[in-house]
Amino acid sequence: MVAVGVDYYPEHWGKEQWDQDIALMARTGVKAVRIAEFAWSRLEPREGEFDFAWLDDVVDRLSGNGLKIILCTPTNSAPVWLYRRYGETLQVERTGRRADTGIRGHRCLSSPVFRRFAGRIVGLLAERYGRRPALIGWQIDNELEANHCNCPHCAAGFRAFLREKYGEIGALNRAWGNDVWSGDFADFEEINTPLGDKYDYGWLNPSYMLDYERFASRSTAGFIRFQRDIIRKYSPGKPVTTNACFSARTPDYYRIFGDLDVAAYDNYPSLYKQGERSNPQQAFVLDLVRGYKRSNFWILEQMSGSFGCWAPISPAPRPGMIAGYAMQAVARGANLVMHFRWRTAARGAEMFCHGLLDHSGVPGRRFREFAEFCAQINALNIPEDAALKSKVALLYSYEQEHAFKIQKMSEGFTYRRQAELLHRAYMSLGVNVDVIEETAGLSGYAVVLVPAHFVADDAVVRKLERFVRSGGTVVVTARSGVKDPYNACLTRELPGPFAKLCGVLVDEYDPIGAGSAALSTPEGKKYAATCWCDILTPQTAEVWAAYDSEFYKGRAAAVRNRFGKGRAYYLGTVGDDALYRDLAVETLAAAGIPHGGVLPPGFEISVRENEGCEFTFIFNNDGEARDLRYGKETLRFKPFEVKVTRRPPTRSPCP
Ligand code: GAL
Ligand code: ZN
Repeated sequence: MVAVGVDYYPEHWGKEQWDQDIALMARTGVKAVRIAEFAWSRLEPREGEFDFAWLDDVVDRLSGNGLKIILCTPTNSAPVWLYRRYGETLQVERTGRRADTGIRGHRCLSSPVFRRFAGRIVGLLAERYGRRPALIGWQIDNELEANHCNCPHCAAGFRAFLREKYGEIGALNRAWGNDVWSGDFADFEEINTPLGDKYDYGWLNPSYMLDYERFASRSTAGFIRFQRDIIRKYSPGKPVTTNACFSARTPDYYRIFGDLDVAAYDNYPSLYKQGERSNPQQAFVLDLVRGYKRSNFWILEQMSGSFGCWAPISPAPRPGMIAGYAMQAVARGANLVMHFRWRTAARGAEMFCHGLLDHSGVPGRRFREFAEFCAQINALNIPEDAALKSKVALLYSYEQEHAFKIQKMSEGFTYRRQAELLHRAYMSLGVNVDVIEETAGLSGYAVVLVPAHFVADDAVVRKLERFVRSGGTVVVTARSGVKDPYNACLTRELPGPFAKLCGVLVDEYDPIGAGSAALSTPEGKKYAATCWCDILTPQTAEVWAAYDSEFYKGRAAAVRNRFGKGRAYYLGTVGDDALYRDLAVETLAAAGIPHGGVLPPGFEISVRENEGCEFTFIFNNDGEARDLRYGKETLRFKPFEVKVTRRPPTRSPCP
């Protein structure tokens, strides 16, 4: 059954506190507790001297009270003695200097010495606790990023990756275009990781940088597999995962979770400033995480209070937010939602990253809301195999995300945003969208959305052609088909390999950034556009919308092309919500996918079902109380309320 958990750091609190905390957890309806993250120095206080007695005690008390356990490997923060005695285990920053201890996450993931010590503590934990019935899974490390360490080991790893990929240095020089700025290498040994914090990504060769990002993701994946294999040896059958987050160094999560048993994410919807009311991006992120393994997932950290540490303390979660955003995660496929954290830390950098209980430990408003959420989830009995079903897929890729981070297109144009705009349009019609890897199979889908497929993969283009030829509908957006797989520009007319499928050519483009353009359709509908304007010449396509402004007034901005039994759309600009919504309505109609009309902004509907039952979630993702006309009824929602209806309406678990 879908369950609620909490993140707990027993090593920060005296034993007297444990029983009280655990009793309150059990009473509140918490089912699982995540422990031992960051606890390495308490488990191995001196090199080779281990103390598991306190953790044995915690594990016994938790399991004795019927609570399940997620155990973390503590490798994010190694003890100071390790770094002091074995300096090479510290990362080297882009400045070329070694990091120093003081924060966390200083470890080099590929240092053989670090791996020796990490492997030993992970092995001991897995051996000791791996077969305990209360243990329901493992979290490796914490929020692992792509490995951007610049130490000699990591640099050698990068060179080995390039050697394997290119074989001989001439092939790399050609692929990267190293004749520009006299960048030719005579030997792989001359290549370094990107050093020099003065150089922005915009100045470094994009081909070099994309290969570096590919390596950095692989390197992190290798560290995860290293731990996974140790865990699996001693803890057979227990799911292994890691907690994903998004940062400037996000790795390729398809690759990371491809090696793991379940996808997991740390879910911190932004807390608003006064006057802001809702958070429309959150559903996209959750759908993205569900796509990592095309399966339901876990939330290992869920927002529980104001943030504060790296930034001024944020506003408090408004009434309804703690339960609402946790239930939204369930609505989009979470089977476990663990709140970060049970108690607010009284010491250390994150003493103002608020948990469910404040420093006093006295349950307050946030805790009461959490307790209501626990009660609601426990009463619903949602089976873990109740899944979202979608006829619409959106292709997402970390290669593209990295390529666009390396080269900014125009002010305001981000890859993520292109995906979100499309996703939001279908969601506003109450239609589920699966966000899946670009290379994933398309069977079962009728509409496929392809935001900015920049670094062109011919296999993906051919797959989309086959899909449309046999009756599918595809939407391709601007900055598709621009690059070759080495992240150099294709020397052909845009949209390159998509020209045939979309029946269009791009004559010229105008990266207008924060500027705006006006559009209209042949039927007279008007839209606003921004960021980017492709000036199109239809070949076999018909005009879907044309520009109403600028020197390209009257020229096509978006087209629709019949291709085989299906249709392909090419959108050469970044439109407003109305444009994407009309495109969604038209493509759904063409594909014969029913929908219930446009929802008022901020309302989200999703359905989780298995063979025996069906749960419909309606979320008022808004800080105001609002009404929704739903079928023949008018439903009244409190701020951030989620209404869940179950069919058949029984209290017992579904078959
Ligand atoms: C997360 C991290 C936690 C804690 C939390 C604070 O990203 O995994 O360890 O730092 O943020 O909000
Ligand atoms: Zn390193």
